[in-house]
Amino acid sequence: MPIKQEDVPRADGMPVLGLGTWQNDDHEQCTESVRRALALGYRHVDTAQIYRNEAAVGDAIEQASIPREDIFLATKVWIRNLSYEDVLGSTQASLERLGTDYLDLLYVHWPSGAYEPADTLAAFDDLYEKNIIRHVGVSNFEPEHIDETRDHLDAPVFANQVEMHPFLPQTELREYAQTSDIELVAYSPLARGDVLGDETLAEIADRHEATEAQVALAWLRENDVTAIPKATGEAHIRENLESLSLELETDELEAIDAISTRERKVQPEFAPDSWE
Ligand SMILES: NC(=O)c1ccc[n+]([C@@H]2O[C@H](COP(=O)([O-])OP(=O)(O)OC[C@H]3O[C@@H](n4cnc5c(N)ncnc54)[C@H](OP(=O)(O)O)[C@@H]3O)[C@@H](O)[C@H]2O)c1
Repeated sequence: MPIKQEDVPRADGMPVLGLGTWQNDDHEQCTESVRRALALGYRHVDTAQIYRNEAAVGDAIEQASIPREDIFLATKVWIRNLSYEDVLGSTQASLERLGTDYLDLLYVHWPSGAYEPADTLAAFDDLYEKNIIRHVGVSNFEPEHIDETRDHLDAPVFANQVEMHPFLPQTELREYAQTSDIELVAYSPLARGDVLGDETLAEIADRHEATEAQVALAWLRENDVTAIPKATGEAHIRENLESLSLELETDELEAIDAISTRERKVQPEFAPDSWE
């Protein structure tokens, strides 16, 4: 049964559960996954220039026959494209691949590579003023990087997309996001599959006849964090969406907070120095 859109919680207009697409880069498969997700009720899709699947996502949106304004579409400008001119040029190319004339959210993918706050963010401001992007996002930013944007960006920073799951609870970034009125979007919310088999999550899942993946996603939602799990086939896509109806008890949320495992799954060499 497709879920009713009015029942999907939103964070300032952004559906709190979206579909991730990293490494879903076979064109036909990616189109099928996104098409399936939209048919089941997803209305938030996360892609990026570097995922090389924007055209496949665009095909799915075209085939879905859902009004464009009902879909929250986010992409990210890759680190090589962060000069003023390249932000504008590469975003235009993203729009063409996605088959749309605007983006709901455009992220700076990492504060790295060609990222120069004054230069990069001036281009984001231009896109925002022209209404080509409805929101400016950042990704993999630490509080000091976001503080720095305030000297260069007129548009508000809408969201920071970072790795977050029960093994990387991002306490400091959550507090910072709350006090700065910025949405937090959790990537790798299933710890890239590693939440499966965790004892605490499994025990809570059993109580609700749910799965560890659903418990991890419900924990994020109950912490006011948007999650974008990547799923390829219908079973995972559906299971993750159904986490929206899983409500956790306070003691269960506390038990997840108390998990001591610490794991960062995404740490490329261009990650911020403070992660080492
Ligand atoms: N901003 C950034 O720098 C950044 C970095 C990483 C990721 N992201 C975004 O965040 C999204 C999600 O992160 P991620 O792809 O790293 O990892 P993830 O969502 O934590 O995990 C994806 C893995 O979990 C599996 N899975 C999905 N649902 C499942 C379920 N219900 N039960 C069991 N296994 C399940 C998937 O398998 P199947 O594919 O076979 O379903 C896949 O192997 C990405 O796709 C991307 O859009 C952004």
